[in-house]
Amino acid sequence: MTAESVSPSASRRTFAIISHPDAGKTTLTERLLLAGGAIRAAGDVKARGERRRARSDWMDIEQKRGISVTSSVMTFERDGITFNLLDTPGHSDFSEDTYRTLSAVDAAVMVIDAAKGIESQTRKLFEVCRLRDIPIITFINKVDREGVDPLTLLDDIASGLALDLAPMTWPIGLGTDFRGLIDIEQKVALLPEVRGGTQSKELTFSDPHELEEKAHVEPHILNPSIEGLELAEGVLSRFDRESFLEGHLSPVYFGSALKEFGVDRLLDALEKFAPPPTTRPANGRKVSASEAPVTGFVFKVQANMDPNHRDRVAFVRLCSGKFKRGMKLFHVRENRMVTIAAPIFFFAQERETADEALPGDIIGIPNHGMLRVGDTLTEGETIRFEGIPNFAPEILRRVSLDDPMKAKQLSRALQDMAEEGVTQVFRPLIGAQAIVGVVGPLQLDVLASRMDKEYGVPIRYDQAPFVTARWIASDDKTVIEKFLEVNRSSVAEDRDGALVYLARNAWALDQAKQDWPALRFADVRERG
Ligand code: G4P
Repeated sequence: MTAESVSPSASRRTFAIISHPDAGKTTLTERLLLAGGAIRAAGDVKARGERRRARSDWMDIEQKRGISVTSSVMTFERDGITFNLLDTPGHSDFSEDTYRTLSAVDAAVMVIDAAKGIESQTRKLFEVCRLRDIPIITFINKVDREGVDPLTLLDDIASGLALDLAPMTWPIGLGTDFRGLIDIEQKVALLPEVRGGTQSKELTFSDPHELEEKAHVEPHILNPSIEGLELAEGVLSRFDRESFLEGHLSPVYFGSALKEFGVDRLLDALEKFAPPPTTRPANGRKVSASEAPVTGFVFKVQANMDPNHRDRVAFVRLCSGKFKRGMKLFHVRENRMVTIAAPIFFFAQERETADEALPGDIIGIPNHGMLRVGDTLTEGETIRFEGIPNFAPEILRRVSLDDPMKAKQLSRALQDMAEEGVTQVFRPLIGAQAIVGVVGPLQLDVLASRMDKEYGVPIRYDQAPFVTARWIASDDKTVIEKFLEVNRSSVAEDRDGALVYLARNAWALDQAKQDWPALRFADVRERG
């Protein structure tokens, strides 16, 4: 046994669900929590969501548009394993937030709609997982609806994503013909009590054709399913854990979140195959989960979760050590020790006070702006965890105030929103008006709504004369100085003081790159 597998964090599975909107992420989340006993009845996730929305005005937008814009953390247990599910916003405008959340997980479940196959958002998120070598378990949802023939679907996914697939369960029929699932390795059929019902019994077999008699599955449904399965076994891969852990192969589970079919098998897979916390790259070295000193990093900050208390919670992913309440940790960026007095666990979206947490766990640390996304906490070592990027915004706007007396509040509120990652804020070297940068237009609505409701600062957006931004850097300081001499009116500082070139159009950016070969123009900036 390796040190990793005997360390206490071997009981942790920290994962996210990636999917295109509507594939069934919310429904699946609910079922997983239900299977883990974290909620009493299906529907609670939504009910709780309603309460939270009622508490927080800015979620009006979420309610109106019927989309989820916040990430949260849900924890549930089964068989002595603690599962930390990090929810990611499904809407593409919030992909930056999603990318950061994916930096904090050890595995991902990719949910695909059986009728739609790979969709744009699935592909984007898959690419992020691939970049980070995050192992992926595939869940093909909605088999109770008419869908694409399973073998064709798997073929499309495998070639579309250049990913090896290993089917672990197989549907018997689809849509109105759906009769159950076959657990391929165990040679077990998962069946409903009544046709169209939820998964409620298991039947072992030695040959799947026995199901015609044993489970009364009509031959015109059973035989093509078995044929498809046999073909799939011939052309697709067999499960190989190493290949899975390296991100090359994904085990595939069919199911229906709505009908609670196949969800238990998915959970088994997370338990058996998904990796416990292992090592995390930091600058200079890799940090192992089995190391005794506590380390962790902030992957998300959420302000004003409760408008009655101007609170701000930093979500910290623990990477090593055993964290205890009241502990003092070293805040690497600020180069000082801080006391973590009132850490919070997130248990099925309800807050619980944490006494102890292990690698893989997420703790919420209430603070007043001390912790930012990308910050590293240690017991004294000066290291920084990698992989919390800022992306070049695709939309830039000038922010104007109706009431000039509120300039100070505006500045403070924008800083808060930037720290939370709702927007990026750029301060031009010439001129006083701040420029906000976002990845998608919906983020602008959220920002304006929150500025008004939470800070009492109504804002307007004016068109900025820029279309995109690039972080500029050079090993030669004089190059930067020269560049500034000529381009000062197109340069701003981000909130960390890093210099950003604001391009008026794509041509200007290309030209600048050509004219200044000694200057790097980066569209991603690692934070921290
Ligand atoms: P999302 O979070 O990925 O956006 O998807 P969500 O779970 O909200 O599901 C989107 C729609 O798909 C919902 O229907 C949901 O009930 C349905 N759905 C999810 N899983 C399954 C499944 O396994 N089978 C079938 N047949 N449907 C499924 P809706 O009508 O948009 O919403 P609702 O009114 O049912 O909540």
